[in-house]
Amino acid sequence: DTIDWDPQDAGKSGYGHYMLKEINEQPQAIRQCLQGRTSEHQQSVLLEELADLDHDGLVQLVACGTSYHAAMYGEQLLQERGMQAQSFFASEYDADRIAVDNETLVIGVTQSGETADTLSALREANRAGAATLAVTNVVGSSAARECEYVVYIRAGPEISVAATKSFVSQQITLALIASTLADVSLPRFLRALQRLPDHIQRVLDRTTTPAVASEIADSEAYFFIGRGTHVPVALEGALKMKEITYKHAEGFPSGELKHGPLALLTPNTPVIALVTNGGETATKTIGNVNEVAARDAPVIAVTDARESVEGVSDTVLEVPRTHPWLAPVLANVQLQLLSYWVATRLGRPIDKPRHLAKTVTVE
Ligand code: G6P
Repeated sequence: DTIDWDPQDAGKSGYGHYMLKEINEQPQAIRQCLQGRTSEHQQSVLLEELADLDHDGLVQLVACGTSYHAAMYGEQLLQERGMQAQSFFASEYDADRIAVDNETLVIGVTQSGETADTLSALREANRAGAATLAVTNVVGSSAARECEYVVYIRAGPEISVAATKSFVSQQITLALIASTLADVSLPRFLRALQRLPDHIQRVLDRTTTPAVASEIADSEAYFFIGRGTHVPVALEGALKMKEITYKHAEGFPSGELKHGPLALLTPNTPVIALVTNGGETATKTIGNVNEVAARDAPVIAVTDARESVEGVSDTVLEVPRTHPWLAPVLANVQLQLLSYWVATRLGRPIDKPRHLAKTVTVE
């Protein structure tokens, strides 16, 4: 007797889709990314790849799609650590207009290392005399060859068109790069990084997104809001939702809600609010959530403090409490799962969405 099996399915290790497999591989991806890159007692970052790079001037980050959201997060981290940083859509990077010279470091963030827009921006940066650094998953890729420096994100192969584990690996790699460039030792952050794989595992094991997805799968549109470090993740949450569900989704800073998007809210447009870390930022977002609730739009709060959203949010997706800079990383895992389960309920071809390609080699 023989058992019929499809070689395509064999690679999915029992998961229905590569996307779900790759979401579940994130704890391992982070362990690989961190391996050998921090000192024994998590006092400092050791990035051999950047040993001879001494840069304290302007840093520009160029990227597309999901990688652009990681670049935005990297920009915020660099700024937090006292550096000057700017992120750009690679397709909008124009060295004739943007100040770039031999004092600038330009970081290309690209999973594949083959995205035409990103390669073209890196070439412009090289022509302008900037130092260039590729943050990529693919060894020997065009971006790796184009740049003077390379730091690999070590996410392992990503098959699903919608990027998941590569995003988290980019975020962590950029955090390591930011610490190296700013030359700051951040023991508390580094200890939290070591615990991140277990925290993500906890989100994966306890998520209630399948049930939440069933309730919201028929919605007209989805809005994702957050402040500060949550902004890149709000944008990424919306992008993921669009890519795999074919539903309209939009992400924006929570403060912008009242400047337009509020007009779109109805009982059929769930708002997914990222509320973690407590403090003023969370309080302000909760204020914005109240405006949403007053328009009868359903609210789904992603939070590390259930009690803080009681009475304002109909549904809660919980994440463990962690270092403030890692809270958005955990929140993002819930958003990945939410999109995945909505797309499943809608019967979409999750790993290969219509009109999209994993790697876009035309400008
Ligand atoms: C395509 C993919 C996206 C990806 C983007 C950038 O549009 O569908 O998932 O984020 O390219 O790809 P890169 O390989 O440069 O990270």
